[in-house]
Amino acid sequence: MKIQVKKGDVVKEPAEVLVLGGYEDETQMDAWIDAVDRLLNGQLRTLRTTKEFQGKLNQTVLVHTPNKHRGPRRVLLVGLGKRGEVTLDRVRQAMGTAVKRVRQAGAQSLTVPLLGGNTASFEATDQAQAMVEGTILGNYRFTHYLTNADDQPKAVQVMTLLATDASQLPTLKRGALRGEISGEATAYVRDLCNHPANVMTPARIVEEAKLVAKEKGVRLTVLDRKQQEKLGMGGLLGVSRGSAEPAKFIVLTYSGAAKREPPVVLVGKTVTFDSGGISLKPAENMEQMKADMTGGAEVLATVRAAARLRLPLNLVGILPATENMPGGRAIKPGDILRMLSGKTVEVQNTDAEGRLVLADGLAYAVRLKPACILDVATLTGACMVALGQFAIGMLGNDDSLKAQVKAAGEQAGERVWEMPLWEEYFEQLKSDVADMRNIGGRGGGMITAAMFLSKFVENVPWVHLDIASTDWSQSERPYVGKGPTGIGARLLLQFLLNRTQGK
Ligand code: BES
Ligand code: ZN
Ligand code: ZN
Repeated sequence: MKIQVKKGDVVKEPAEVLVLGGYEDETQMDAWIDAVDRLLNGQLRTLRTTKEFQGKLNQTVLVHTPNKHRGPRRVLLVGLGKRGEVTLDRVRQAMGTAVKRVRQAGAQSLTVPLLGGNTASFEATDQAQAMVEGTILGNYRFTHYLTNADDQPKAVQVMTLLATDASQLPTLKRGALRGEISGEATAYVRDLCNHPANVMTPARIVEEAKLVAKEKGVRLTVLDRKQQEKLGMGGLLGVSRGSAEPAKFIVLTYSGAAKREPPVVLVGKTVTFDSGGISLKPAENMEQMKADMTGGAEVLATVRAAARLRLPLNLVGILPATENMPGGRAIKPGDILRMLSGKTVEVQNTDAEGRLVLADGLAYAVRLKPACILDVATLTGACMVALGQFAIGMLGNDDSLKAQVKAAGEQAGERVWEMPLWEEYFEQLKSDVADMRNIGGRGGGMITAAMFLSKFVENVPWVHLDIASTDWSQSERPYVGKGPTGIGARLLLQFLLNRTQGK
């Protein structure tokens, strides 16, 4: 979608659809909305008094303007809920709802001033960013494999953010650029996750990483099996044994600051298909395991976005990429692996493979002497049981880092919820024959998985994000469709943006 910002007048701008936000149960209209109302012969006021438009969050009403005017052809009202309860995520939702309505109406562009006007609740830059994100993501569809998409309403092509006076221009432009880059980051993750596993193989992930490495300041290193063997990446090699697709260990380095500045390292679980291996999963919903590479996709998208925004920091993205398959050479329950860190692991369940590949990713990250490590993974079904669809599980070893991640999640509309990471839980991971085992038995599955990972990060500040419950939506939401949500990329980008604030 093309995103543009320009100065203009709501009543004069020749918009295909002019989108206006309205708060719940307010009869008083801002002066400029009044002007639009005059254009519409008082229809807006009538919609309010008849309660046809109450302004409830995500409510919409579309009206046509008398066509003698050269201003907007149609006006779409979208509800923002109560003024006192407005949040950036509500703004994102309202735009997601609006763009879908515009699309349904067969229009290909929309024009929108700051939704809901200037508010005291947040900065105009953030508001513009959220508006663009909501629009891009509400407009998102995955149609790559449909040979006949003609019967579907066409995607909206252009969004124009209208600055109602010139002083708004720089703020809106900055916000719109961020929104475009972060919205596209999420859309990119959705694309990568929507592609089926016969296409999105570890080799294809490498091709994607090559595209990301075209951005200024980004370098790519790919370790193939021989190099993985030489280094002793027993976790990644072990998981990939049952698959015909060779594993790839992908490292993207973005340099945006002086060499001596320690990097932020992102590690993403990149299991391009998780069949469970010899501990085979049940058939029901197994197709969703094509999205078991969501963490890696987010790391790719975040590195690309950080480079596009030219963030003044050093960043490394690590993707241990493999399938988890039950081939004849697959690892078996009871096998013992020697990991990159040197520690040994007894594999009691081959379906707990994410932690095995991440352990090598984390050990590699530690060698880079990073400022901090964030890992993101569709790691446990237990996360889904504990938190359901709306919260990312967060565990980590550093309170300040956790606070930063939590704040970024709130800003991005991708909220995290902390779980305890107490040493006592390691009891459940003790093995009789190796340093640890890869499952923790009954109870606290999300925690024991994180506990396992913690043994590979040494004392580097680290946060683990379990997105197993949030990476796939079961229902259509304002700016999230059914299927892969892409959740996490905007959080990671916001985290990086916040770190560079003031630099
Ligand atoms: N990829 C799965 C976790 C998952 C499940 C993600 C459902 C998204 C939706 C992971 O590799 C897995 O299979 N975990 C096992 C671990 C268990 C064997 C200890 C699980 O959670 O069942
Ligand atoms: Zn698994
Ligand atoms: Zn998995």
